[in-house]
Amino acid sequence: MEMIQFDQDRNLWVLQTENTAYAFGLSAEGALCHTYYGPRLPFLSDYPGARLYPEQSSFDCREGLSPEEYMSWCDSKYTEPCIKATFSDHTRDVVLKYAGFSAEGDSLSVTLRDAAYPLRVELRYRVAADCDLIEKSACVVNEGTEPVRLEQILSGSLFPARSDAYRLTSVSGKWAGEFQLRRAMLPDAKTVLESRRGTTSHGANPFVMLDENGSATETGGRVYVGALAYSGNWKITVEKTSFRMVKVCAGVNDFDFAWLLEPGASFTAPPFLIGYTEKGFGAASRMLHAYQLNHVLPAGHRGELRKVLYNSWEARLFDVNEEEQCRLADAAASLGIELFVMDDGWFGARDNDRAGLGDWFVNRRKFPNGLSKLIRHVNGLGMDFGLWVEPEMVNPDSDLYRRHPGWVYRFENRPGNLRRNQLVLNLAREDVRAYLYESMDRLLTENNIQFIKWDMNRNFSEPGYPEEAPEKQREIWVRHVEGLYGIVERLRAAHPGVLFQSCSGGGGRVDLGVLRRFDQVWASDNTNASDRLPIQEGFSYAYCAKVMESWVTGSSAPGTLPLEFRFHCAMTGNLGIGVDLFQWDDAQREKARALIAEYKQIRPIVQHGRQYRLMGTQGPLTAVSYVGAERDRAVLFAFWQHGRFGDRPLPVRLQGLDETALYEAEGYGRMSGKALMCVGLTPEFAGDPGSVLIRIEKV
Ligand code: GLA
Repeated sequence: MEMIQFDQDRNLWVLQTENTAYAFGLSAEGALCHTYYGPRLPFLSDYPGARLYPEQSSFDCREGLSPEEYMSWCDSKYTEPCIKATFSDHTRDVVLKYAGFSAEGDSLSVTLRDAAYPLRVELRYRVAADCDLIEKSACVVNEGTEPVRLEQILSGSLFPARSDAYRLTSVSGKWAGEFQLRRAMLPDAKTVLESRRGTTSHGANPFVMLDENGSATETGGRVYVGALAYSGNWKITVEKTSFRMVKVCAGVNDFDFAWLLEPGASFTAPPFLIGYTEKGFGAASRMLHAYQLNHVLPAGHRGELRKVLYNSWEARLFDVNEEEQCRLADAAASLGIELFVMDDGWFGARDNDRAGLGDWFVNRRKFPNGLSKLIRHVNGLGMDFGLWVEPEMVNPDSDLYRRHPGWVYRFENRPGNLRRNQLVLNLAREDVRAYLYESMDRLLTENNIQFIKWDMNRNFSEPGYPEEAPEKQREIWVRHVEGLYGIVERLRAAHPGVLFQSCSGGGGRVDLGVLRRFDQVWASDNTNASDRLPIQEGFSYAYCAKVMESWVTGSSAPGTLPLEFRFHCAMTGNLGIGVDLFQWDDAQREKARALIAEYKQIRPIVQHGRQYRLMGTQGPLTAVSYVGAERDRAVLFAFWQHGRFGDRPLPVRLQGLDETALYEAEGYGRMSGKALMCVGLTPEFAGDPGSVLIRIEKV
């Protein structure tokens, strides 16, 4: 199969994945228009050629009605543009004309040029054929001698097949309540999902799914996917026009954005992933999961299984010291934990959240031997050592701030808002980037650290950069992300053995851009397993289980969920423990040890297998399964909560098994794959709330 085909007679490009095709071409008038996105068709001639839609009236011009592949703001076009710019003579529109293409293997680049000004736009496509996804991006190059002011530059658009109605699936949320699944029919209007916070945000996440007529289910129906690989201010617009065209645009948010493109300089928009399936939401999610596992996660650790970690935060908060952490490490190791992570509190004058951020030096009062004694102790117990940092931040009460008060974003005549008593460092500045790189590099060079939890505990406010030229000050939104990505990439290159976790007060920075640079993420600060199930369900729409760190926390106080329930919930991702281990009695420790050992046996399937959401979190029964690549092994997790009087669990019908094979479902007998998928298993729970983990293996 050729991934990129070009029909010379019709000036039509067709991008093909295993099951889908995406086509766009040049109309007779020279407009670059989208023509088809759906199942792969037998012949090149099957794909429609580009045609502008007929003009309706003087108010609705042909170009404005047509699905332009990369629409610039000009002429009488009023849907969301991908690019808007102002030239040095104050001309404020961009008129793009086709100027050639090049294709090789999985990549296509189409060149557009402004009709009158020396501005070039390269539309870049990369086909991830195995995952039925296409990566789009755009790069703008100033080929002239005068600067150009970019006011909007998005990554690209997605046009679902024309239809009467579409439903939008996305997530909304808040701190400690991220990734809440939301579904709504599209109104005849523009829906905007975005972040203006400087980071990806807890409130929304940069992915959407659209299903025709709202008729798709987990297992069937036409679903379009769009996901943006970006960790700063982002925007996805989903627009349904009065002419029943649905247009999705995604990229860097244009809110408070401006970029001065100097002569010879270029600006590259972040990748926008698009996909299509006829097999429902479950398949759409698995496409994204496979893409992360095969193409996105940092290559060095991509194939490795993630370790079971212990994190000290909920047990000790800021109250960490050498002796206590060594004791915790002993307790963690005795349970079979493989990675011991010391969280906040180990550096500078950090006894609470009011001081210390910025001073990345070990607090000698708490750790008289630096970190070396603790790390040797942890390594001696057979565990890796990990450390918490929050490099992008500074407390005013810190040596760093006292030395460099000008290193933070600020407006000179406004008091900086202190959220969590901290300010955001200006990562647009080279000296700040250098300081952060050197601080982190020194920590990693001087200590045997195998894991970094990189946190970001507030959003931006007063985002000024007074030292910069006025026309460049709004670049900070993008420059910050560029700085973050650059520092992490350099650290990874210098310390290839280290794994990085992204955290932002929980799931405030989870996206495909982060996952290119971080090996795993913290989905939420909310570790209550009952709240966590819907958070994890929403998370799974876009992100794979392997990257989803999930901890067992909480005490044994009456009313808390059974320990097994909390474990099972965390075992559906990348298992971690965050409890004060001295709260557990012997019986609980014994149970924890057994469950950790069980997780190690099943984790290749959870982390590298295919995930199936069998029962959502709306009713009393929630079920999710993972099936190994060879379909010879599967694990089923089922959770029962708040059943009404007399309620009994329904049978859970599995998915993704080999129909003709005979399987043994531990404790439930032998059944064919087909029976497991058609009849299903009725899980038995010891109580309400209750949970089960059922291992299923080919006989
Ligand atoms: C954030 C993180 C927590 C913990 C604290 C430490 O809230 O999400 O897991 O690391 O910071 O201050």
